[in-house]
Amino acid sequence: MTLWVEGATGKAGRRVVAALAAAGVPVRAASRHPGAPAGAVTPVRFDWYDETTWAPALGDADAVFLKGLDSDADAAAIMARFVGSAPAVRHVVFMSAAGVDAAPDHAPRRAVELAVQNSGKRWTILRPNWFLQNFDEDEWVFAKALREDNDLYAGSGDSRVSFTDTRDLADAAVTVLTEDGHDGRGYTLTGPEAVTFGEVAEVLAKVSGRPIRHLDATPEQHRAHFARSGRPDAWVDHMLDLFELVRAGVSAPVTDDFERLTGKPPRTLAAYAEEMWRG
Ligand SMILES: NC(=O)c1ccc[n+]([C@@H]2O[C@H](COP(=O)([O-])OP(=O)(O)OC[C@H]3O[C@@H](n4cnc5c(N)ncnc54)[C@H](OP(=O)(O)O)[C@@H]3O)[C@@H](O)[C@H]2O)c1
Repeated sequence: MTLWVEGATGKAGRRVVAALAAAGVPVRAASRHPGAPAGAVTPVRFDWYDETTWAPALGDADAVFLKGLDSDADAAAIMARFVGSAPAVRHVVFMSAAGVDAAPDHAPRRAVELAVQNSGKRWTILRPNWFLQNFDEDEWVFAKALREDNDLYAGSGDSRVSFTDTRDLADAAVTVLTEDGHDGRGYTLTGPEAVTFGEVAEVLAKVSGRPIRHLDATPEQHRAHFARSGRPDAWVDHMLDLFELVRAGVSAPVTDDFERLTGKPPRTLAAYAEEMWRG
């Protein structure tokens, strides 16, 4: 079995690669900027927007972990084309996001889920909630403003989020990629508790000893903040849509899917903060 992981240098993908390698599974780690091979990991160059990279990157892979494209109106069509171009691939594991299964069929991420489900392959969908690692690793979602200004910039009001540690996502991915019994299933992977962004700020402040506070941005403030990233307007719109979903309570439910899949409890905000934010 050779596994192929897309987004292999990202917050989620690189932990999926590490967890597979630790489980002794050969893995092809796909991104536009592959690093050097190490042990069972073979980095390969792959670009969603350059189809000539697809087949060489896949090589002999028979199962894939995909995150697909966000904020691209053609994401579902590109996903369908990619999966259709890979006859040797038998199992597709798609990382979507918590709540997407309840979205209308035409919603961008739900359309990608449906493209996977209708691909004719065996499929499994993982739906993690907002990543804890956004706080220290995602420069423009939270990390830069936290680092430079102690501001947790989130237009969320008092809505709650059951944050997911990306290492739990990776452990769940190893389970569904390497064990039978997960075909045609979707799993919503959450942390063990739902907290407000105000409570997150309190935890990070206490552990770091810094005056971190929740800045409950209006949509206009948020748009201006994200626009400073220099990322495309479609990404800014996508982020504002995500915070609207948070305010609507979509990110609050807590599930036991992770524990049922892996037999262990999900990692906590407190443990993450202790590890990454201790001052
Ligand atoms: N962040 C969250 O809180 C969260 C929660 C739930 C679900 N998700 C889902 O997770 C996904 C994001 O995952 P992440 O946070 O791990 O990503 P990330 O940290 O932003 O990393 C993006 C990865 O994609 C690669 N990449 C970017 N553009 C590419 C292209 N054109 N072709 C091929 N590879 C490309 C990047 O590597 P190179 O630059 O080297 O190509 C990198 O490995 C999203 O689809 C989102 O819906 C995120």
